[in-house]
Amino acid sequence: QKKGFIFDLDGVIVDTAGFHYLAWKTLANDLGFEFTEEQNERFKGVSRVRSLEILLEIGKRKATQEEKDGWLISKNAEYLGYIEKMTKEDILPGVLDVLNYLKEKNIPMALGSASKNAQPILKRVGLFDMFDFIVDGNHVEKAKPDPEVFTMGAEELEIDYKNIIVFEDSIAGVQAANSVDMVSVGIGDASVLHEADYIFKDFTEISTNFLDQLINA
Ligand code: G6P
Ligand code: MG
Repeated sequence: QKKGFIFDLDGVIVDTAGFHYLAWKTLANDLGFEFTEEQNERFKGVSRVRSLEILLEIGKRKATQEEKDGWLISKNAEYLGYIEKMTKEDILPGVLDVLNYLKEKNIPMALGSASKNAQPILKRVGLFDMFDFIVDGNHVEKAKPDPEVFTMGAEELEIDYKNIIVFEDSIAGVQAANSVDMVSVGIGDASVLHEADYIFKDFTEISTNFLDQLINA
């Protein structure tokens, strides 16, 4: 049966988690509290609006809608400053080999990201044309762990959920894929991503043999 691959963006294809962290940290510090990289784990895969709510929880801050709207704008402005400087070099190790291998085999591929900045980032790193469909934060209502971003991708690719393989670095994303019986491949720390069907530290550990196994399963 025909398989389709869906890739998360932040932390899977590009290493933008650090940029999100820096921008949220600026906001936290401006509001008078600390924000650590360990706490940033909870922010992976989570929408921008929900991320702000978590940050305010961490700082025990209450805020009006107007304040929140302003902070979302300033956080994103700082983040955009970082992504403007991105180049091909910011594609994570091993990713291009995997994408090119699948492309050569004509495997349908989609992007499934919570980010509203997904398209400019893909353009900056030269991967905009790699995917048959891009589903991002501008297209979905519900954030991961809701599977909407992946089910929409599967429907665009016209492939059954169970024949979709999802690459994710976040717990929320792995849970989203699992909840609709897609195959989940976790990229990152095994202790964080233990719910995934397969786990790799990064894409350099993914062999063409493993990809063939997924394609021919
Ligand atoms: C990804 C990241 C999250 C981020 C979200 C929204 O899922 O992992 O950390 O909050 O996208 O990104 P955006 O670029 O729209 O602020
Ligand atoms: Mg991610």
